[in-house]
Amino acid sequence: MEDKMGSECEGPEMSLVCLTDFQEHAREHLSKSTRDFIEGGADDSVTRDENIAAFKRIRLRPRYLRDVSEVDTRTTIQGEEISAPICIAPTGFHCLVWPDGEMSTARAAQAAGICYITSTFASCSLEDIVIAAPEGLRWFQLYVHPDLQLNKQLIQRVESLGFKALVITLDAPVCGNRRHDIRNQLRKNLTLTDLQSPKKGNSIPYFQMTPISTSLCWNDLSWFQSITRLPIILKGILTKEDAELAVKHKVQGIIVSNHGGRQLDEVLASIDALTEVVAAVKGKIEVYLDGGVRTGNDVLKALALGARCIFLGRPILWGLAYKGEHGVKEVLNILTNEFHTSMALTGCKKKRPITRLLRLPTGGSQTHSTVCDAVLPGPHPVWRLMPHISHISNPSTPVLQALQSPVFPKCSIPFFVSLTIIFCFLA
Ligand code: FNR
Repeated sequence: MEDKMGSECEGPEMSLVCLTDFQEHAREHLSKSTRDFIEGGADDSVTRDENIAAFKRIRLRPRYLRDVSEVDTRTTIQGEEISAPICIAPTGFHCLVWPDGEMSTARAAQAAGICYITSTFASCSLEDIVIAAPEGLRWFQLYVHPDLQLNKQLIQRVESLGFKALVITLDAPVCGNRRHDIRNQLRKNLTLTDLQSPKKGNSIPYFQMTPISTSLCWNDLSWFQSITRLPIILKGILTKEDAELAVKHKVQGIIVSNHGGRQLDEVLASIDALTEVVAAVKGKIEVYLDGGVRTGNDVLKALALGARCIFLGRPILWGLAYKGEHGVKEVLNILTNEFHTSMALTGCKKKRPITRLLRLPTGGSQTHSTVCDAVLPGPHPVWRLMPHISHISNPSTPVLQALQSPVFPKCSIPFFVSLTIIFCFLA
């Protein structure tokens, strides 16, 4: 990453100094329908906004006199080293915001030394993306297609192209109600490059093919495990029940995510769901987070609460809209520098890989020496829906289980318990 002061004299670029500056720039420069497509949440966008607000309720407890002369942001995910715990979430149709779309995104990720999850809905072909950034660490995100053979062909292609993990998105058995997209009729004009019909060889209009399986169940995961050697990461888990099922079904990772608030509205903010998921997996698999990460402090908080790394959705598209590859690099650079500052100011030592240690709400039993700050959560004021991914295979799930409120002590929201979260940086 560039030195923080290094680009000080580069003129206009420096006017964008934080991720929300890129958002403002994108708002001013993108067409209305593209802007709406990126910014939109489902229904009233409660969760989209809550993703950000929830981070702001958490307070830091800095520790001083800890020698932060050297701070190392590197870590590993699924055994691969990344320069910082800041990676790129799958988002579709990058060519809407920059001519060579995902190719620029991939180049920026490669240059930054972080992971880029390519979406099923990429507007460039997978082959072109790999050619653009052959050395980059890339995972592939799959929306499971109802036609199993089509999934198989795609997964085999992804594997032979050197993608290192398969990310299956769970939270979109149907598309959320995105009012702006409906009004703008955006999807009529979008096509899928990587889900071509083998017979026709043509790109398929996004809407016409209803491409996402609505019948996917936990038991189907074994089929995916039988056709690929890639680690499988489940994206979109928000509850301890589903986290436990993920472990039981032997997947390798979870991305705690609510799809940026674009699917089921009024679910928990990702950062609020993180603690119960982390507690449920008991360190058996890696847990990541996306949704609402906008500052270095947000990254620090997510790590302190047990995420191995975070993924960015919209901010990458804002960077892409600003200056393609260079805009994405700038976004990653700014956030990494902010995270570096957050580490130093909270007393995090130079150690790698980054490992979290968590003292659970009960007080926990871990007694590891504290080398870093802790975070203090704020109150969690309202009811939120808890989507249960296994509802399809378990139709008897009581509706009430899908509601979560801080009022009930049974509920596992960490934010009503006096809690100290501690994470360490271990060699
Ligand atoms: C998404 N997201 C998404 N997720 C996924 O699994 N496959 C996809 O193709 C897309 N496409 C997509 C497009 C756009 C425009 C957005 C904003 C989001 C969700 C994405 O991976 C991620 O979960 C959120 O974007 C994270 O929230 P933030 O960082 O945008 O707040």
